[in-house]
Amino acid sequence: MTRTPLIAGNWKMNLDHLQSIAFVQKLAWSLRDAKHSSAEVEVAVFPPFTDLRSVQTLISADKLDLAHGGQDLSAHDSGAYTGEISGAFLAALECRYVIIGHSERRQYHHEDDALVAAKTVAALRHGVTPVVCVGETAEDLEAHGPSAVPVGQLAAVLAELAPDQEIVVAYEPVWAIGSGQAATPEQAQQVCAALRAEIETALGAEAAQRTRILYGGSVKAANIAGFMKQKDVDGALVGGASLDVDEFSAIARFPKHVGTV
Ligand code: PGA
Repeated sequence: MTRTPLIAGNWKMNLDHLQSIAFVQKLAWSLRDAKHSSAEVEVAVFPPFTDLRSVQTLISADKLDLAHGGQDLSAHDSGAYTGEISGAFLAALECRYVIIGHSERRQYHHEDDALVAAKTVAALRHGVTPVVCVGETAEDLEAHGPSAVPVGQLAAVLAELAPDQEIVVAYEPVWAIGSGQAATPEQAQQVCAALRAEIETALGAEAAQRTRILYGGSVKAANIAGFMKQKDVDGALVGGASLDVDEFSAIARFPKHVGTV
C-alpha cells in the first residue's frame, strides 16, 4: 500500500491572521511554481485558532492545493468550557486535521494519555483527522530506551479506536523539538517501525499499512530527505522551519532532493 506523504507545518503561537494570509499565499505560489501536487506530497498548515477562518477562506476561494488544521481541540463538543475549541468548530472551518497531544500541551497543560485519547475520539466524531503526537524526553530515553514511551502513549489512544478510523501519528522526540538536534534517520525509523507494529497489534495489518507516521523534531530542508528515505517515515511535522516560506516549501519538495543527501 502506498501512503501519500504529509508535510505538516505546526506554527505554534506564531503569525496572526493577517500574517497567515500573506504566508499561505506565498507558500501556494512557491509550490505552484515548482509544479507541486498534493497527489505526490500533501502539505498542511496548522495556524493558531484565530487565523483559521482567514486561512480557510483563502484556501477555498483560491482553490489552493493545501490543507489546514487546528493545533488542539477540546474533548467536549459544546458547553461551559471557557476558552476551549470544539471539534465541531474545526469541522465547520473545513479543518482536515487537528494536532493532538503535542509535547508542549503534555508538558505545559498537563495533558495525559487519557485526555489525548479522549481528544482523538472527539476529533474523529467530527470528521477531523487527528495527528496524534507521541515522543520520549531525554530522561525517558536514558531510562527506557527509544520506543517504550512513545509506543505506550500510542497504545493508550489505539485502545479507543476501531480499525477503520483514520489517524496520523507523529513521532516527536521531545529532546529533538526546537533544539536543532534532530534524531538520526535510523533512530526515527526504529521508533516509527515500533509504532507501526503497535498499530498492527491493536488494529490489524491493514490499519498498520494505511496509517501515516510522521517524524518531527528539528526537521529542515537539509535533513528531510534522509528521513523520507526510511521505510516507516511517511512525512514530517515541522515547527520552526515551517515559519520560513522558502524553507517549508523546500521541505515539501523533498522528492526533488531525495537521493542528494
Ligand atoms: P521543531 O518543532 O521543528 O521546531 O523542532 C517540531 C514540533 O514541535 O512539532
